[in-house]
Amino acid sequence: MTQQPLPTGTEEISPTRKSNPWSRYEEAVLGFRNYWYPGMLSRHLRRKPVAVQLLGEKLVFVRSQGKCYALENRCPHRGVPLSMGTCEFPGTHTITCRYHGWTFDLSDGLCVAAITDGPESSIVGKVRVSSYPVEERKGLIWVFIGDRQPPPFEEEVPEDILDEKAVLGIRVTQRIGNWRLAAENGLDASHAAYLHRNAWLTVFRRFPAYKTNILPEISNRSVGYTQGPSVLAGDYPALGRWPQNEQQWWKNPRKRPTVSALHLPGFLRVDPFPTPGIVHFEWYVPSDERHHHYFQISVKKTTALNAWRFRLAYWLWWRWLGHVDFNGQDAEMVQLMDPFYSEEGGWGRERLFRPDVVLTAWRKYCHENARAVQSRE
Ligand code: FES
Ligand code: FE2
Repeated sequence: MTQQPLPTGTEEISPTRKSNPWSRYEEAVLGFRNYWYPGMLSRHLRRKPVAVQLLGEKLVFVRSQGKCYALENRCPHRGVPLSMGTCEFPGTHTITCRYHGWTFDLSDGLCVAAITDGPESSIVGKVRVSSYPVEERKGLIWVFIGDRQPPPFEEEVPEDILDEKAVLGIRVTQRIGNWRLAAENGLDASHAAYLHRNAWLTVFRRFPAYKTNILPEISNRSVGYTQGPSVLAGDYPALGRWPQNEQQWWKNPRKRPTVSALHLPGFLRVDPFPTPGIVHFEWYVPSDERHHHYFQISVKKTTALNAWRFRLAYWLWWRWLGHVDFNGQDAEMVQLMDPFYSEEGGWGRERLFRPDVVLTAWRKYCHENARAVQSRE
């Protein structure tokens, strides 16, 4: 992928909140506009249209003669979801609303017929629903949410994923919690050594008590971090040594730290996870203010027989150990944090500690670089 600087923001920074160093990030409850997002799994879109809410917008994905389309899921007549409709004109790329038969062209959302008002209906050509640019690649349907010409898909989606040798293991879930809490958890450098101690994936891993010298590392495309040596056990003043069970012979420290980086509009790349040779991606796609679609993607570059070996290993092991159990521990924390941030003023009340410098770097990075903040309007 060519390394290009991200376009600068297109929205005004709110003058009343200049003192807040990441006010645009704080406003981005529903995420950022003008980006490509994974929308749904290809294999889940067959004959029946599928309704999905992304960034607070209601979409319907439709497959017509093999090709995917996305429209606003709201009939302009009386608001019935178009996902209830079907194609009434075989051979055309259209969807007809379940209620009065208004019919829309899937490629541009224009109303091309109103069945119950006859072929001469004067509403034809006068109304339209929003249509969204779509790409179907690597078992996923990707959609551009925004209001300008979408940037080239290949420049926006990581080449690890689009590589023709890339074989993917994907898990998509709907999780509770604002997308930013999930994104920050993904980058958070300090929780793993404590929260994930009892995950099945890490039964043989000896976690350090703490990491030293965690510092953000900002590139023109992402925010990651560097760290100093990890310390296996610490002497905590007036309390004693932790952990006390340091001598479990079956546990060994990791030899090489993983490298994590968080990208706009909200996806993480971790190399390697859950095991050497697999690169992990996760997208936190806002659904509404308090939910997000969590796309986990394991990527292995391989071909032929090894591709099937990886698929088997993914479905037998890595999906359950990595995507379900290990990252399920994070999901629980994100869900538990959400009321604090959504109801109790957490963005103003949180008390951050030294390792969180990585999170504040990410927030400032978004504030300065995000293309546009999504809003309910
Ligand atoms: Fe869709 Fe009437 S509500 S046609
Ligand atoms: Fe985690």
